[in-house]
Amino acid sequence: MSYVADTYSRFPIRIVKANGMNVWDDEGREYIDTFMGIGVLLFGHNYPVVVQAMKQKMDHYVHLSNFFADDDAEVVAERLVKETGRNGKVFFTNSGAESSECALKVVRKTKKSGKIVSFVKNFHGRTMKSLSITGFDNLRKQFVDEKDVVFLPYDVNVVEEFLEKESDIAAVFIEVLHGSGGLDLIPTKIVELINHYKPIRNFILIADEVQSGLGRTGKFYAYQHFDLKPDLVTLAKGIGGGLPLGGCIMLDDFSDVFVNGDHGSTFAPNPVALAGGRAVLSLINDELLEHVREMGKIFESRFSALGEVRGLGLMRGVRLADETTKKLAKEHFLNQGLLVNIISNGVIRFLLPLNVTVEDIDTVFYRFTATLEKVSSNV
Ligand SMILES: Cc1ncc(COP(=O)(O)O)c(C=O)c1O
Repeated sequence: MSYVADTYSRFPIRIVKANGMNVWDDEGREYIDTFMGIGVLLFGHNYPVVVQAMKQKMDHYVHLSNFFADDDAEVVAERLVKETGRNGKVFFTNSGAESSECALKVVRKTKKSGKIVSFVKNFHGRTMKSLSITGFDNLRKQFVDEKDVVFLPYDVNVVEEFLEKESDIAAVFIEVLHGSGGLDLIPTKIVELINHYKPIRNFILIADEVQSGLGRTGKFYAYQHFDLKPDLVTLAKGIGGGLPLGGCIMLDDFSDVFVNGDHGSTFAPNPVALAGGRAVLSLINDELLEHVREMGKIFESRFSALGEVRGLGLMRGVRLADETTKKLAKEHFLNQGLLVNIISNGVIRFLLPLNVTVEDIDTVFYRFTATLEKVSSNV
């Protein structure tokens, strides 16, 4: 019996220690954790530089509130904006959902009416408004179904027809590489349509980089794989070094949409999370991005022997044959010392740390294939 709400199916183990890519349970068993806190731990568990920065900050203070400036907030915000190559400002949040909420507030402060476009399988969060633009009917419909939100499929003709016919579009939300939705990449033709119709329809373009940002795909922001110029960028997950922190980056004309009192948060940005975030950002440079791209290729070369490999850089999914997927449960991997996340469409998602090595990938691959062999020999 647990008093914790049953909204997740938890692994039947108790983790007592974590380091790098590994965790250990209370019986001393070691596992490789491919969740990385659902993409939060960009440099693995307990990365010394990050943890040290947090500890040092805690010696100064744990929390102040937004009425006082914080040096780390300035440094983190400046870097996040500069990586877009444009001018802007950051509103800090505690989570991805809150970052989506912030973006929606910017949209509605700027455009009181008009359709909000999202895509099927976009994931933007679980609070009521962020859920309202999340393209998973099973998660959304029992709670919220807003008439002004439209979900388009990744179908070029459907998207073109919609953008041609609908004159009143306030905003378009994109997640260029679906994280929870199965690692589909936005088709280049749809990007071209968005770029073509943006000045015609005058909509606000929001790139959700909560999961794909901060180097995860081999570029600082995943939208930079495309010729895209979002007005708002949402972030969370890795930016707090493991502690809750997110951000809504408001660029160019949108930098000053919010004025004093328009938005706020008691907790965000937490100073300790900001110190962690500053340390994380200090580790993300051209060399690291090159490493991510390189390791992504190694991952792909190993796992493509087993099925379809999706994604970019170190945001990866492996889709096995349907027959194999049906037989697999997370417990099978657990028995081989591997913690994996089986997400929608039977895709197994890997969010390995950005500093992963070839040897690490080989160990993951070895345990993964050992699981598949064990499962197929038991049938
Ligand atoms: C792309 C994307 N946006 C938003 C969110 C919501 O973030 P949070 O769970 O921090 O609210 C997530 C969470 O997985 C996500 O992957």
